[in-house]
Amino acid sequence: MKHLSLTDFRNYRSADVELTRGVTVFVGPNGQGKTNLVESLSYLSTLASHRTSDDRALLRVGCDMAIVRALLRHGDRELLVEVQLNRAAANKAQVNRAAIRIRDLPRYFSSVLFAPEDLALVRGEPGVRRRFLDELLVQRTPRLVGVLADYERVVKQRNSLLKSARARGLRVDQLTTLDIWDERLVELGSEIIDERQALLDALAEPVRRGYQAVAGADHHPTLSLRLSTRGADPEEEDGAAVKIGEAAASTVDQFRAALTGARRRELDRGVSLLGPHRDDVLFELNDLPAKGYASHGESWSFALALRLGAAELLRAESTTGDPVLLLDDVFAELDSGRRALLARAVADYEQVIITAAVLDDIPPGLGAGLIHIQAGEVVP
Ligand SMILES: Nc1ncnc2c1ncn2[C@@H]1O[C@H](COP(=O)(O)OP(=O)(O)O)[C@@H](O)[C@H]1O
Ligand SMILES: [Mg+2]
Repeated sequence: MKHLSLTDFRNYRSADVELTRGVTVFVGPNGQGKTNLVESLSYLSTLASHRTSDDRALLRVGCDMAIVRALLRHGDRELLVEVQLNRAAANKAQVNRAAIRIRDLPRYFSSVLFAPEDLALVRGEPGVRRRFLDELLVQRTPRLVGVLADYERVVKQRNSLLKSARARGLRVDQLTTLDIWDERLVELGSEIIDERQALLDALAEPVRRGYQAVAGADHHPTLSLRLSTRGADPEEEDGAAVKIGEAAASTVDQFRAALTGARRRELDRGVSLLGPHRDDVLFELNDLPAKGYASHGESWSFALALRLGAAELLRAESTTGDPVLLLDDVFAELDSGRRALLARAVADYEQVIITAAVLDDIPPGLGAGLIHIQAGEVVP
């Protein structure tokens, strides 16, 4: 990225930043707008904020529209991409001043954001890990944005059907309309499950290398799906597991069989209990679950390894250059050993953007350009 310009985004009335190759550090006291700036970049590549699911929070207070515009370099070609966030209307996107479908925006720009919240990838709830997977899925395969959105709609529809059936006291065999939704749920859900599995397969080695790089040790990190359709119910401590079939069945057959077995329970509860929206990923170190077993430092190493692994994967598959790495205030979370190792692991990416409240947190030798951020203004 060569240039970023923001209009009425978060606390920026208007900001213009020239960006060079290599490492740039944005420094400034807390609450000035450092995270807001990297959030805008991350939004361009994922169409989502890591801090809110409500885009309206991204519009400067009192404004009805925000614009994030970036001049990108793809080889020797330059590309102007822009997203317009609207309070009362659908968001819009442009490339070289021509309108494109907003869901196509991630095709043009990719980034990987490292944030203090990343510890929740290891220690937090399943939803955090699902979001990690799905964001990466969309970056690798933009068309999946549609599949994920369709799936979400089907779950909603199905939930309201189950809820009203429960309210009316219907029996399992009186719910014929459910069959149609079941088919859609199985079809879309199976595609997501298979895509997530393929993603985890592709991530295994990059994550292992990432862990080695930041921990300086190989603790055999592994990632495996825990599927609600195969009996795991990560969302419920006491959930009665659906035990059916053997591992050999296809995703679709497995899903369909599990759904039949869970119907009564779903009707009792009035909610869709099976599918990718209830699945989880199990992270293990040396065959022990990272959640609940790993130390603080190991958990951080795992979280960083996931981001580094994602970056390596996007880099390997990219036709437009490296993903831009965004390190938002992460050095402050790490001990000096991990700081130095992380700095080394990111140093050879084309563009790295780091934020910090104080320069002391940043390991020496990164060879960085420095930009100050003050009260929603960029001060070179
Ligand atoms: N939509 C918004 N409109 C105006 N100001 C906002 C908006 N969202 C956040 N802010 C302000 O931005 C500041 C936080 O910026 P942030 O980038 O998180 O700071 P930091 O430099 O610590 O990373 C806060 O003062 C907050 O009130
Ligand atoms: Mg911040």
